[in-house]
Amino acid sequence: MTADHQSVHHDQSAHDQPHDHPDDHPLAPVAEADYRAAMARFASGVTIVTTCLDGVDHAMTASAFTSVSLSPPLVLVCVEKIARFHSAVLSAGTWGVSVLTDDHHHVATRLAHRGRPLRGQLDGIPVHRGLTGAALLSAAAARLECRTVAVHDGGDHSIVVGEVVGSDTPPDPAPALVYYAGGYHAVSTRTDPDLQV
Ligand SMILES: Cc1cc2nc3c(=O)[nH]c(=O)nc-3n(C[C@H](O)[C@H](O)[C@H](O)COP(=O)(O)O)c2cc1C
Repeated sequence: MTADHQSVHHDQSAHDQPHDHPDDHPLAPVAEADYRAAMARFASGVTIVTTCLDGVDHAMTASAFTSVSLSPPLVLVCVEKIARFHSAVLSAGTWGVSVLTDDHHHVATRLAHRGRPLRGQLDGIPVHRGLTGAALLSAAAARLECRTVAVHDGGDHSIVVGEVVGSDTPPDPAPALVYYAGGYHAVSTRTDPDLQV
């Protein structure tokens, strides 16, 4: 038995209460509307994830992006299984992440539109190619490139874990783009009297 196990104290009197039996209150999934409302209170950054498959650029707005590990450097993005980006990123095995600034909230809107034409979806958006061939937004606050190292099931999404094989952070980025309560917001650490948040 570990020290951790020894330090756990059980309150036997609590277990004696009849309402504590798990069968009395099965843990059913929360209502979808309640779940959505709760998650809307979680502010997140906004990224454009990209991959290049057979010479075709695929891109999608994604906020379910996070760092996982420092050593090795790992990140994850959750990709809906029915999104066209899903099969593309799993087939390509490499992908890019462009962290958006507030200046580009229109790009987030465009690349979140379900069923948009695939070809030419990055037209008019300045991009350059990274090590993996993925398109990276030139005006991003940060850019990362990843090689998929694991794909986990996550309900109606897949959790795609990538080793970061490249990153860059251009100096003096515009205010960050944040998605919160169903809308986009600008977050800046700079003193800017003209910025209306
Ligand atoms: C702010 C925001 C964040 C989003 N984050 C994700 C995400 O993390 N993962 C995901 O699969 N879809 C996310 N979406 C939805 C996808 O962008 C959208 O379903 C996808 O672009 C549809 O493309 P398709 O028609 O090619 O399937 C997000 C949408 C918005 C507006």
